[in-house]
Amino acid sequence: MKIGVLTGGGDCPGLNAVIRALTRSAISTHGAEVVGFYDAWDGVMDDRAIPLTVDAVRGTLPRGGTILGTRRGGPYDHADGVRRVKETMQVRGLDALIVIGGNGSLTVASRLFAEEGLPVVGIPKTIDNDVVGTDVCFGFTTAVQIATDSIDRLHSTAESHDRVVVIEVMGRDAGWIALQSGIAGGATVILVPEQPFDINVVADLVRRRHARGRQASLVVVAEGATAVNSDFPLPEYGTDHMGRPKLGGISVPVAQEIERLTGFDTRVVQIGLVQRGGTPCAYDRVLCTRLGLDAVDAIVERDFGKMLAMRSDRIERVPLSIVNGKTRTIDVALYQQVADVFFG
Ligand code: F6P
Repeated sequence: MKIGVLTGGGDCPGLNAVIRALTRSAISTHGAEVVGFYDAWDGVMDDRAIPLTVDAVRGTLPRGGTILGTRRGGPYDHADGVRRVKETMQVRGLDALIVIGGNGSLTVASRLFAEEGLPVVGIPKTIDNDVVGTDVCFGFTTAVQIATDSIDRLHSTAESHDRVVVIEVMGRDAGWIALQSGIAGGATVILVPEQPFDINVVADLVRRRHARGRQASLVVVAEGATAVNSDFPLPEYGTDHMGRPKLGGISVPVAQEIERLTGFDTRVVQIGLVQRGGTPCAYDRVLCTRLGLDAVDAIVERDFGKMLAMRSDRIERVPLSIVNGKTRTIDVALYQQVADVFFG
């Protein structure tokens, strides 16, 4: 048996742990061969790959990033992309391709299965935690911990200087990191893409807290949050090579407006890519190991076109098509419950 694997989309902690687990299982338990494609779909289209051996994955469990490299985009962005993917799989005699990716890569995998009949298995990853069909994506828990550690540190410096600190976390279409790190870090206000904010309400909440004698506030904002105020100066940084708006920077106008409306000294912290870098936490290492092992089991059973989903602490196989073009957003009822009690 020959298995190919790729990592696609933005990197996240735990990618190497999945690669290690599936390689170990494929080789040790099933006597299979494993090849890792470089740079996501680019490596499949160009047939650039390395043999993954037990030696090649040794020591990678705690290592951040991906030993295979990653890119955004895929075969449907090229006129001959699908043909090249099929050709590589055929020439290499692959029995299956494991796609470790977020919404973009998994949607590609889903199409390759449905339209071309390719034997693919998907594993959801993204620190944004916005893949439909699974309770959690690996990388997310690590990112929340990094954001929470940052909020904890910012509390002490904000209190020492009587400041408001606006901390910006990732979350393009879903506010999972903002919500969970905001709860865990005891934020004064949390701003998420799912609930456009009114900057006057945000300023009132900060004022209310300071009127009770607290001189420091922590406002957590997801990079994809938007304002209801039509005149709110949302930053614009153009688009990336995929045509997606470049995010990052909303914390600046949020802080400027809070300072203007309240008169309180307000600072900005963007933790940005720090959330995606470095070693996975213990929870993610275990989740990644389970996903890698189960992916090989799915291949042995020839159960293709599936994504491995974590549901109530069990890993289940769900149709990859569940992902197509969708985004899993936060539970707005939980957001509201937290807002009612803790904001301000
Ligand atoms: O991986 C998802 C994500 O972290 C988004 O939250 C963010 O908008 C995006 O990646 C930024 O990625 P890059 O800087 O690699 O384009």
